[in-house]
Amino acid sequence: MSVTTADTQHATGDIEQRVTALLAEMTLAEKIGQMTQLDASHGNPADYLGERLRSGRLGSVLNLADADTVNELQRIAVEESRLGIPLLVARDVIHGFATVVPLPIGQAASFNPDIARDGARVAALEAARTGVNWTFAPMIDISRDPRWGRIAESFGEDPYLTSVMGAATVEGFQGDDLAAVGTIAACAKHFAGYGAAEAGRDYAATYIPERELRNVHLPPFKAAADAGVAAFMTSFSDVNGVPATGNEFLLRQVLRDEWGYEGIVVSDWDSIRQLWIHGLSEDDRESAYLAVTAGVDVEMAGDTYINHLEPLLNDGEIDIARIDAAAGNVLRLKYELGLFENPYTDPDALPPIGSEQALATAKRAALQSVVMLQNENSVLPLISEELASVAVIGPLADDSYEQLGTWIFDGDPGLSVTPLEAIRKLLGDGAAVRYVKAMENSRSKAGPAFDEAAEAAGASDAAILFLGEESILSGEAHSRADISLPGDQAELVRRIRATGKPVVAVILAGRPLTLTDIVDEVDAILFAWHPGTMGGPAIADLLFGIESPSGKLPATFPRMVGQVPIYYAQRNTGKPATPEKAMLIDDIPVGAKQTSVGNVSYHLDAGYKPLFAFGHGLSYAEFRYDNIALSASEISIGDTIIISADLTNAGDVAAEEVAQLYVRDLAGSTTRPVRELKRFRRIHLEPGQTVNVRFELHTHDLAFYGRDMKLAAEPGEFHAWIGGSSEADLQASFRIVDNQAGD
Ligand code: GLC
Repeated sequence: MSVTTADTQHATGDIEQRVTALLAEMTLAEKIGQMTQLDASHGNPADYLGERLRSGRLGSVLNLADADTVNELQRIAVEESRLGIPLLVARDVIHGFATVVPLPIGQAASFNPDIARDGARVAALEAARTGVNWTFAPMIDISRDPRWGRIAESFGEDPYLTSVMGAATVEGFQGDDLAAVGTIAACAKHFAGYGAAEAGRDYAATYIPERELRNVHLPPFKAAADAGVAAFMTSFSDVNGVPATGNEFLLRQVLRDEWGYEGIVVSDWDSIRQLWIHGLSEDDRESAYLAVTAGVDVEMAGDTYINHLEPLLNDGEIDIARIDAAAGNVLRLKYELGLFENPYTDPDALPPIGSEQALATAKRAALQSVVMLQNENSVLPLISEELASVAVIGPLADDSYEQLGTWIFDGDPGLSVTPLEAIRKLLGDGAAVRYVKAMENSRSKAGPAFDEAAEAAGASDAAILFLGEESILSGEAHSRADISLPGDQAELVRRIRATGKPVVAVILAGRPLTLTDIVDEVDAILFAWHPGTMGGPAIADLLFGIESPSGKLPATFPRMVGQVPIYYAQRNTGKPATPEKAMLIDDIPVGAKQTSVGNVSYHLDAGYKPLFAFGHGLSYAEFRYDNIALSASEISIGDTIIISADLTNAGDVAAEEVAQLYVRDLAGSTTRPVRELKRFRRIHLEPGQTVNVRFELHTHDLAFYGRDMKLAAEPGEFHAWIGGSSEADLQASFRIVDNQAGD
């Protein structure tokens, strides 16, 4: 007869007391059950998981999002097992559930943590309706290689931006109370260094010196831990020869000992067994030993724990304390989620799917995520009153599914409004809309439809091209070695350019693309990432000036893929390139001698600058930065400094600007990046308005892991810039003096 835990003596006391009391009642098999997570995505999981639930040998499931099915599994777990321990129900709710917000890299382009928080809040409310109580998000891997398909799920290349957006996402999912209806546990992933996959090839090995790991890849995970994220997920990656799922340095020394993290560590899918494939173990038993010893609490979609932990314990190779700690971490989350008091889901206690609030959140996110890369001849905004007709061309103008992007298991294309639909609605009878898809998909070759597209453009006052990549071309396992526009899209652009009409390109993609072969063929470019459910209305409002573009690039856009990795926070090297020295290949005179060209760090055929820099993004307004000022020219360790500047909207439309603060530590015990983003703020300005933007920095914000591998700010000179991108040139300098020695 099951004794529901709500009735037992450990139903009282604080959570730690309840965890301890429950563990004391559990058998070894039941404890190992809590460390096991199985897939529930096919058929009726009650059929194939029921026995495990009744015997208490299953702690969580994933890939189930249906309230009735979840409630049935919870009923079996709670009412038909000996101790009645409820289930964690996990799902990849990455950037929305049924209502989809922009890809995380698009959200990062908003440089607005509210966008991440609000999007996660909406996603939690919709996911919780189906019984999901744990999401595998945020993904906060630093991604500096756009060949890597999973850059789409990331917040881009910068540790500070990723930290801010990741922490906000945790807050959105988890709210103030995990036990509240409509909040779900979040999961920081993939710990750690996954984004440094060699050659941008997903799952490839990573080689990250500890100092680089600590200064670049770990800060977002520390921020997520500080934000109270309920779980961490290990990466598939081989990290410096020790795959993350068996990596004690990461999982024990950093996460537990240094950071004092007390949440769950879950493996990635079957990544414990993969330790054998990596070559770290000889069999599943050894893989289980390595993972549980390193600190993995829950095995996702694998059976090494359920098969080998008991023998490992009986042979004295692992200690029951490790099992208790792991099972205890799982129980703790279940108590925090309130599952012992209320394991069942009532969908009607939550807002409906696709609510007005959800759609408004999705539209606001899409509006702020779109980046205007160029706007030659101020072709944008299109003035609808002046347009008799417009041609809408391309494979991504009217695809309600593709605009959602990767990782949208539960995204509902039926809720989507496509750009074509939104343009037609916005223009109404005011202008004719000629739509030509022109390509079956982004990879199609030129064909007769190109003629039709050119005719439509030629007969219209302007042409809007919707180009890019379908969602399948980014995301997990979907890396590309050539990141230009697929298929014959560039040829289509040239054909439309030949009509002589104003040409606007709207690009939907899951990664930065090399756009070098079209930038001179189009007047304006809006980069919309995969903008989600409300991408259409957002893009239409931006095209026709209802709103001004305000997004900024969270990742660098290379001129060509051969420049990768190229990112703003690079080291200076001893021979940095300059415009004078970086002679390009076509300018090299015949007979040039070996030492007559270059001698600095650049590529002969690409130079040393990207096509579009981190933080870049244009507006319909005209923003100007002046009068940078410092509250002090010298500060001591432990002090703060205020760095400010005047920001003016010199344009004639109201708009939002993302003011950015970059800092450079000119000399350290180890070399430092030529710039690092340290603060940013999105600000609304009316035409003619000036605001004084003030950023406060503590010397701790300038700390880094230096030669002694300790986190500290160091005395010396610093440069600071405030502006609208990482290429800001409004500069000031200050010093940190050593308050002991007197610098
Ligand atoms: C995947 C991904 C991970 C995801 C998990 C569950 O392979 O790497 O991000 O959360 O499996 O779907």
